[in-house]
Amino acid sequence: MARVLSGLKPTGPVTLGNYLGALRYWVEDQHRDDSFFAVVDLHALTVEHDPADLRALTLEQARCLLAAGLDPDVCTLFIQSHVHEHSELNWLLECTTSFGELRRMTQFKDKSGDQEFVSTGLFTYPVLMAADILIYDADRVPVGDDQRQHLELCRDIALRFNGRYGDVFVVPEASVPTVGARVKDLQEPTMKMSASSASLAGTVLLLDPPADIERKIKRAVTDTESEVRYDPGAKPGVSNLLTILGAATSRTPEDVASGYTQYGSLKADTAAAVVELLLPVQERYRELTGDPAGTAALLEKGAAKARVVASATLARAKDAVGLLAPG
Ligand code: TYM
Repeated sequence: MARVLSGLKPTGPVTLGNYLGALRYWVEDQHRDDSFFAVVDLHALTVEHDPADLRALTLEQARCLLAAGLDPDVCTLFIQSHVHEHSELNWLLECTTSFGELRRMTQFKDKSGDQEFVSTGLFTYPVLMAADILIYDADRVPVGDDQRQHLELCRDIALRFNGRYGDVFVVPEASVPTVGARVKDLQEPTMKMSASSASLAGTVLLLDPPADIERKIKRAVTDTESEVRYDPGAKPGVSNLLTILGAATSRTPEDVASGYTQYGSLKADTAAAVVELLLPVQERYRELTGDPAGTAALLEKGAAKARVVASATLARAKDAVGLLAPG
């Protein structure tokens, strides 16, 4: 059975982009592969944050993953900081990664540009991400398109480490979906839909009430033409709506386009499809909020399962680089 690992960073509420590009595929993956999913809270420390917000967002995201359909009896669901081995492997990998490699990361360039204080953690973030993946011997990492470069780096780090110290790590593959991998902001359709955007007018949140979802989609930026055509270069706004409706109804955007001649009906149908898609997730989320102890217990069980694998890989890696075992 293949091993799968992926993560979600609690820097903001879960978005429709997270759901369409990643989460819903994880729900399928868990039934096919030996799957590990984490709320990667250590990654959220790389930018300025409020400690109380981080705690609340971590729990909210874990609930969202459960509400989306991850079943802790089938997959391993945990909080990254509950498995301290990630941080320890991170150091070994930092010493196997070059400064130049990290400097080339486009997400670092984008994210550091608008920060007054740029932490070292933001710079080395992709190494911790590599540790998250390599520590579970993951074969496959299901992610949206924006994570491709980080996955390439992870592969390079694993190959270099194996080349220097022997066959320690599985070299993972990125698994990027053909539909939904690049959901764009509804107001700025050349940018990724993200909860970190200055305004959330163009970002649909997984837990947005139906009226907000409808309003955001109906106000989505299109263009002055009236032709409905999938052409992300020339018509980014319309193409994004086609992508969202396609992803929500399991069709290709081109397929969806053939059924429309007007932007108005495309928007109305997209809004209706998204509301219908998210409604059961939102209902399950509400049920979970009534049982915080139950969620905490599930996460503790997940961390215990994760630690078994993580500690074995860490021991292998420490031995390979020449760290003297205690005793
Ligand atoms: P994060 O938390 O930003 O996003 C979680 C997942 O959602 C995908 N995604 C999107 N997909 C399509 N359209 C969008 N607009 C969109 N926005 C986000 C992301 O590609 C991702 O798959 N660095 C990672 C977290 C991470 C991780 C890992 C992932 C840490 N360690 C190990 C995989 C394996 C991140 O910031 O994802």
